[in-house]
Amino acid sequence: MRAVVITDFDTEPVLTDLPVPEPGPGEVLVRLAAAGVNPFDWKVIGGAMRGAVDHAFPLVLGSDGAGTVERTGAGVAAFTFGDRVFGPFMDVEHGRGSYAEYAIAKASKLARLPDDLPFDLAAAMPTACAAAYTFVEGTGVGPGQTLLVNGASGGVGQAAVQLAAAQGVHVIATTDSGTAAYLRDLGAAETVDFTAAPTAEQVRDTHPDGVDAVVDLVSADDQIEAIALLLKPNGVIVSSNGSLGDELLAAHGLRGANLYANMTPATLAFLAEAVEAGQLRVRIDHRAPLEEAAAALERLKEGQARGKTVLEL
Ligand SMILES: NC(=O)c1ccc[n+]([C@@H]2O[C@H](COP(=O)([O-])OP(=O)(O)OC[C@H]3O[C@@H](n4cnc5c(N)ncnc54)[C@H](OP(=O)(O)O)[C@@H]3O)[C@@H](O)[C@H]2O)c1
Repeated sequence: MRAVVITDFDTEPVLTDLPVPEPGPGEVLVRLAAAGVNPFDWKVIGGAMRGAVDHAFPLVLGSDGAGTVERTGAGVAAFTFGDRVFGPFMDVEHGRGSYAEYAIAKASKLARLPDDLPFDLAAAMPTACAAAYTFVEGTGVGPGQTLLVNGASGGVGQAAVQLAAAQGVHVIATTDSGTAAYLRDLGAAETVDFTAAPTAEQVRDTHPDGVDAVVDLVSADDQIEAIALLLKPNGVIVSSNGSLGDELLAAHGLRGANLYANMTPATLAFLAEAVEAGQLRVRIDHRAPLEEAAAALERLKEGQARGKTVLEL
């Protein structure tokens, strides 16, 4: 099968030919129709999980994918040949990922794909939409409260804006001027052009009493303090990038946490229903064939993501 692999950390992803893997007990072999590309994929190349978990090389890149069940391993009763499924496929310990014609997933991690939901949209969803869901829920923000989504113009941010706005939350979304109208259409009550002036200054000007919650998708460790200080007393901030330190939170008496996407099948099924019902829009802003995976990753890394990137198989 065709697959995109790295042969070591910090090497160029290359298209290669690998044997189709066999599903073990509790596993499902999926014939992928589309793979979603996430910033985490290029972070894995750079060794984001090095030291924390073993990596097997050649390592097939990619977490997210959608396709049809080809074969099931022993003990899998929930899925059968031809079922439409989507979910996370990354397993660096076994060198497995979704940038391939076939990929293995744990049956316990896969979600069923509704008939009307196309594979490309489904492949774009798992990490970004589940992260947005985890982060918005993690803030505990409710109707009438104010949430700043810092990094709203990207894949996670767009979903976070919609999920929060649907609950009656007043969403402030950071973006460049070109995507502001789209984010307001998704439900943002206000937009802040992060290219015009520092976001913290702009939000402080319009919300001198602060905001109730922040979902921060962009700030590094040395940038997040200015954003965190926008919180009202008892407000809460979550970071997608592990940027919140205990010292920072304690120094200012803030509540917050570094959170990670909780991609359960139940959450994925909920999100798929929302997409199918038109309540959650997933914008694919770049499509590429598998052989152009390296260029697609580079494009995402360089910025200008205004939605999701999908590899078509
Ligand atoms: N913890 C987890 O489980 C988890 C899950 C998913 C994602 N993440 C992380 O969360 C981050 C966002 O993911 P994503 O998939 O949404 O990425 P993405 O699609 O690349 O979107 C990031 C967006 O943020 C914008 N941005 C860059 N600098 C900004 C700034 N200073 N202020 C406001 N916006 C800015 C980018 O615009 P430009 O392109 O113009 O720079 C881009 O539109 C990534 O670092 C990702 O690795 C973590």
